[in-house]
Amino acid sequence: MKTEVLTIDPHSPQPDRIARAAEVLRAGGLVAFPTETVYGLGANALSEEAVRRIFEAKGRPANNPLIVHVADLSVAQSITAEWPPAADALARAFWPGPLALILPRRPCIPDVVTGGGSTVAVRVPAHRVALDLLRAANMPIAAPSANRSNHLSPTRAEHVLRGLEGRIDLILDGGPTTGGLESTVVDVSVQPPQLLRPGLLPPGILETYLGPVVRAQRTRRQGELLPAPGMLQRHYAPRTPLECNDDDGWERVRTLTAQGLKVGWMTLAGKSVEETSGVDVRCMPTRAEDYGSQLFAVLHELDQAHLDRIVVELPPATEEWLAVRDRLLRAATTD
Ligand code: TXA
Ligand code: MG
Repeated sequence: MKTEVLTIDPHSPQPDRIARAAEVLRAGGLVAFPTETVYGLGANALSEEAVRRIFEAKGRPANNPLIVHVADLSVAQSITAEWPPAADALARAFWPGPLALILPRRPCIPDVVTGGGSTVAVRVPAHRVALDLLRAANMPIAAPSANRSNHLSPTRAEHVLRGLEGRIDLILDGGPTTGGLESTVVDVSVQPPQLLRPGLLPPGILETYLGPVVRAQRTRRQGELLPAPGMLQRHYAPRTPLECNDDDGWERVRTLTAQGLKVGWMTLAGKSVEETSGVDVRCMPTRAEDYGSQLFAVLHELDQAHLDRIVVELPPATEEWLAVRDRLLRAATTD
């Protein structure tokens, strides 16, 4: 299959290009498109056959369910069987936006979307291209991140192409995504609600709407029964082995380079950094939000740089860094 790439204006999407993508979706095809978080790989969520193609293209295990993207709250209600107060409060506060809500599903959503489970993840994305596409196609769109399973999420069309060229029909290239980290995933089908994946929503903000939120533990291993399949340890990893350090990691970098290894070092900006041959240094932003928006792009770049190792200085273990640390620790996991 040849993958077509159409550039599109992220602020004022050309209607003919949106129409072309909607036509591909209606025909059961796969379209990658930008959202405010990362690029998604979309298919008609109501078509079992179309959704099956997503799993094939990504090499994704069938037990890992997909987020269904919808144009607005009323479409979300039409595919969910219950709409508890917590869902209503969060949807009204944060949609369109980087929040996926887990709710009991209606039978119109095929098993393949939910991994056979009784709940479905829904979200209204805050990106003009995604919203115009949802309206033009006039269907809910199932869309995981547009990467091969277990690899890094894509924040640019070129990342999508690198992983999925020849495996999907079309990419709408709307330039780099602004958010850079995936959405926050909250299970509101249980009481109290459970944070399954920290993400782009400002940390701590859920509590102001919900009161206490239970945080799922990041300790499950592949193969175990998964209440939240997104809790798989290794989920966002570069191919180059990556290790996290609680200190700045410089000693570790020196040790590795002394062994003749080529090393990438992701350190927090603001200190003076010695030039050392064999070290590819990336000074990362000291604001969590800026760090998050660049994280995957930097990891993609380092992963292309033929390095033996990536050494990361972990940002502090505070609330504001929760999502960034989550992605870094997963990227470092080898099981
Ligand atoms: O920002 C995002 O959420 C991006 C863009 C494209 O919207 N999408 C994304 O999808 O990150 P994906 O498939 O890479 O991650 C969805 C996460 C997975 O960890 C999945 O296991 C979890 O949501 N998930 C989906 N449906 C679920 C369900 N019914 N119950 C529990 N977890 C679910
Ligand atoms: Mg993903």
